[in-house]
Amino acid sequence: MRTPVFAANWKMHKSGLDAVAWVREFEALTKDLGAEAVDVIVAPPFTAIAAAVEASHGSGIAIAGQNLHFERQGAFTGEVSAEMLKAAGAEFVIIGHSERRQLFGETDDSVQRKVTAAHAAGLIPIVCVGETLDERERGDTLTVLDRQVRAGLDGCTGDRIAALILAYEPVWAIGTGKNATAAEAGEAHTHLRRRLREWFGGVHADRCRIVYGGSVKPDNIQQLIGLEDVDGGLVGGASLNADSFVSIVQKATAQQAR
Ligand code: 13P
Repeated sequence: MRTPVFAANWKMHKSGLDAVAWVREFEALTKDLGAEAVDVIVAPPFTAIAAAVEASHGSGIAIAGQNLHFERQGAFTGEVSAEMLKAAGAEFVIIGHSERRQLFGETDDSVQRKVTAAHAAGLIPIVCVGETLDERERGDTLTVLDRQVRAGLDGCTGDRIAALILAYEPVWAIGTGKNATAAEAGEAHTHLRRRLREWFGGVHADRCRIVYGGSVKPDNIQQLIGLEDVDGGLVGGASLNADSFVSIVQKATAQQAR
């Protein structure tokens, strides 16, 4: 059994003070719930990581970076290394988000180097893959996913595949309010699991958590989490408010308990 995991990607939103307030609200909303079998990760902007780490002690929330540079240190103005994230208290890091790929020139090759750097520093990568609308309409979705996974995870051992999180985020569903249907998400997730099995072995592939991202909301999570190969969500807009993020997590765990 894979433990479901929900990650809040705050993108370029929230200060350290906002992060503390969000964590407090999350704790208040979940305090009567008993220990749910679900992992929760929050990815604040770099400047709010230390405050989020401090505030989330004892809350069950783990903190992630949203990006990193693959070099350990050096003359790379504006960049942050895996070691720096780790030292700030992050345990996870998002790599290859489509906004990084589309707006900041991230490539499959840089994703692979970042995954290697994250592992070397003891961070667990959350590796994002997903097709654009054009690619989907051309019928290239599965080919694009194959390329992104094969290149991005090249060199990973089976144990590392088992521990990392793979996020299927169709680009056309991000921030658009238009989530993938159960059929679309199901096809992509099942395909990704099949490829992980082929390339890294069944035991490791079956432990890897594959989460869906793209307009996840309280009112659509249940149709997605009910799918066999969907192990959670990577939530953007609906995670900015602790209330709606908690509602997503609660609806998902209620659905899984059925
Ligand atoms: P939205 O939930 O705002 O569509 O963003 C998804 C996303 O990019 C998470 O990484």
